[in-house]
Amino acid sequence: MESIPEIRPEAGEVLKVTGGFPLAGSVRVHGAKNSVLKLMAAALLAQGTTTITNVPDILDVEIMSELLRRLGCDVVHDADASTVVISVPERLHHRADYDLVRRMRASICVLGPLVSRCGEADVAMPGGDNIGSRGLDLHIDGLQRMGAHVVNEHGYLIATSKQLRGADIWLDFPSVGATETLVMAAVMAEGTTTIDNAAREPEIIDICTMLVAMGAAITGIGTSTLVIEGVKELHPVEHRTVPDRIVAGTWAVAAAITGGSVFIEGANPEHLRIALDKLGSAGARVAVQGDGFTVSMEGRPKAVDIVTLPYPGFPTDLQPQFIALNAIADGAALVTENLFEARFRFVRELARLGADVRTDGHHALIRGRQGLSGAPVEATDIRAGAGLVLAGLVAEGTTEIYGVGHIDRGYAGLVEDLRRLGASVERSPATNS
Ligand code: UD1
Repeated sequence: MESIPEIRPEAGEVLKVTGGFPLAGSVRVHGAKNSVLKLMAAALLAQGTTTITNVPDILDVEIMSELLRRLGCDVVHDADASTVVISVPERLHHRADYDLVRRMRASICVLGPLVSRCGEADVAMPGGDNIGSRGLDLHIDGLQRMGAHVVNEHGYLIATSKQLRGADIWLDFPSVGATETLVMAAVMAEGTTTIDNAAREPEIIDICTMLVAMGAAITGIGTSTLVIEGVKELHPVEHRTVPDRIVAGTWAVAAAITGGSVFIEGANPEHLRIALDKLGSAGARVAVQGDGFTVSMEGRPKAVDIVTLPYPGFPTDLQPQFIALNAIADGAALVTENLFEARFRFVRELARLGADVRTDGHHALIRGRQGLSGAPVEATDIRAGAGLVLAGLVAEGTTEIYGVGHIDRGYAGLVEDLRRLGASVERSPATNS
């Protein structure tokens, strides 16, 4: 078993970004973090060896690998080959420990496969969540409808069921996580499960596609109604992770905010329609070519209003990046966050760079400034970190971004890619700053 210190994030580091360099060149996008973690969990459903390709070299993949090892799997993550090979035994352990779930909320995605395979899942509850509260209620309601008994004991969500049964489930909200949990629980349940108001994100399509290749019977993939006919057994497969649309969108904003021109390779522009349309409204040119698309911008962007919504709406995971763009845009923009209110915490950091942002509930009003000025700031989550890096790319002088471990969770090789595109970025121990 690998010891935890080996996968501890590199805390105590700082990214120093000196603004003023337009990005130019091409960058390759890796597989989606928000897909690969669930694909790894889905591998638990079939005994044998599953191979996942186009895997991003990020910390969360290490945490998920460790979680699967503790469940009894043999996991080999080859960062050079961008693969994860998971050998799943006939009998699995069914406990996901708090020390891992605490560090990666997405660990909850083993819940569905474990109840299905083991008849029991003991998964530590991520902080702040309670049975019935916002956060996991849709996962739990759905499992209960499928006949599982679910309790919260000593901080663990314990779900048991000898044999899950198909059920008709309506989600109050098209939750990505709940849709994934319920699909993974349903593929080997007895009978038919219908999930209405299901999430339609490309990552949901990705996991459903993998499950179908494994032998699952799912129809309505990519629509709001998924119909799953339970099967007795699934078999292991090789599956390629869908490209990371949020990383691709972050590079698109990076090109626009710096007044540069970047070819974003290996990305699917269809997964970013609204975000790219917004960049067009901001004055950028978006050209789809070959295996990706180019975003170029001349002059100052125009302010663009944003409303985050479940897919195909504007993604909440690109909201901080667009707030950064609006911070230097010509005009004022209203950004409405409908998924995670806490996301606006990052504007306090952006204000340290001189941005004019006021928030009220789930609205933020940004009045664009001619420029920002470099300052020390703290990344509080992955996307906040991305937003601050983008702001740093245009701020005058040097922006020091602390909390680099958060950025590493979602962006593999960010510093190297930024440098290749002409940015002035260095990463160093925080103590030297
Ligand atoms: C996933 C993504 C995250 C992205 C989000 C929305 C991963 C690892 N993370 O998160 O990056 O921002 O989708 O696109 O894939 N909710 C409930 N009850 C539930 C479940 C969710 O009330 O049982 C609420 C949440 O509190 C939140 C909203 O629904 O306000 C969206 O959550 P959800 O779609 O489940 O997002 P995640 O799967 O957690």
